[in-house]
Amino acid sequence: MRIDPWASRQYADYARLRDEFGIEPFDAGPRIAARGVRSPLLSRGVVFGHRGFDRIERAIERGQPWALLTGLMPSGNFHLGHKMVMDQVRAYQELGADVTLAVADIEAYATRGMSLERAREIAIDQYVRNYLALGLDPERAQVYFQSRRAAVKDLAWKVGRKVNWTTMQAIYGFEGETNMGHALAPLVQVGDILHVQLPRYGGPRPVLVPVGVDQDPHLRLTRDLADATRVYSVKLVKEGGLGVFVGPDDDVPGRLKAARQALSKAGFADSKENVAYKALYLPHAAPDDVTDVDLVLAKLESAAGAFGFLAPSATYHRFMTGLTGDKMSSSRPETSVFLTDDEATARKKVMGAKTGGRATAEEQRRLGAEWDKCVVAEMYTYHLAPDEADLAEKHEKCVTGARLCGPCKGIAADRVVAFLKEHKERRDAIDDKTLASVVRED
Ligand code: TRP
Repeated sequence: MRIDPWASRQYADYARLRDEFGIEPFDAGPRIAARGVRSPLLSRGVVFGHRGFDRIERAIERGQPWALLTGLMPSGNFHLGHKMVMDQVRAYQELGADVTLAVADIEAYATRGMSLERAREIAIDQYVRNYLALGLDPERAQVYFQSRRAAVKDLAWKVGRKVNWTTMQAIYGFEGETNMGHALAPLVQVGDILHVQLPRYGGPRPVLVPVGVDQDPHLRLTRDLADATRVYSVKLVKEGGLGVFVGPDDDVPGRLKAARQALSKAGFADSKENVAYKALYLPHAAPDDVTDVDLVLAKLESAAGAFGFLAPSATYHRFMTGLTGDKMSSSRPETSVFLTDDEATARKKVMGAKTGGRATAEEQRRLGAEWDKCVVAEMYTYHLAPDEADLAEKHEKCVTGARLCGPCKGIAADRVVAFLKEHKERRDAIDDKTLASVVRED
């Protein structure tokens, strides 16, 4: 099985994805809720998997700096699927993340033939305005364009040196006919994800990339390339304790000494060098000191002029099914509520949604409806029923047949309409100054 980030298919078997690609189950929802940050997406299993989220949790627990970076291709109307990303961003902002959002205009140009001018219009009009109206805190967030940020493009070709065509073929299924613009798009995305750790953008620190699971190939590539930039690596060793290993062959004694000094200052005073093994042994470090030791070393590398990129962490969310039962798409209005829809349009879309209803009302009263197959149930779970008791009531009435699909959709439609009305007020209240303060020109 291969995940194709540009295909329009859906991934339904999340457990299989997890097992086959080594994605870990995401279980941080309750701990995040215990911190007073409420997010249905994080606590209800919509965000179902992660790589390296422990690094982020540690930074949150200790109040240390960490960053969030994610990106969207400006494809058209902003819909409920896009809102999911923003809801997560907002929760993480509350948890202390500094936020950087990429407008993937190079990717849209390369893979969809969209002009940069059009991408910019859509990004500002549709995306940035909606981000702000959905509660993005402009004080600790910035939006940039791939095509304008030199650091991102420079990184794309610099890290390009560390990956060959065979690997790109294996990850993405690229072939001889793949055009080079498309072939470069993943490297630009690697540049997006890694550049926030350059000194100018905040230096080495944990970075979280919340995305849909179709983006996992990019994350695997990025994490490998981040590791490839490193001078040092840290591993648990059999005898207990941690081992720090030097990658390059030159100046091994000097590098070991520098690591030893930096770690000693950070509280890991007890260490033994083994120059022949290019290693430094920390006998008293605990297994969960790995991330701290790694951060000390990444900062050391960065201060010495190397990249020192920590491997970024990622979380993966399930996709929302389109209202019609197939994929949600900004170019197919009938598949999703757009955040700019007027009342009548939105109501009509929800009332026309595909549900888990039975063939006849009689049958449904007898058997109950199929909540797990219902797009409207998804809307409640993801967006429309933030309160647990309320969600439980919707579920109960559905599966017992006590409430039929018509009335249930009616409630959902009312909620969508109320949300859109408030959202429009918030969007109209955004002034040009706030907008301009978030959008960076390089
Ligand atoms: N490839 C993503 C998409 O298809 C957009 C994107 C570009 C992105 N750069 C990113 C996502 C960096 C996460 C991180 O929508």
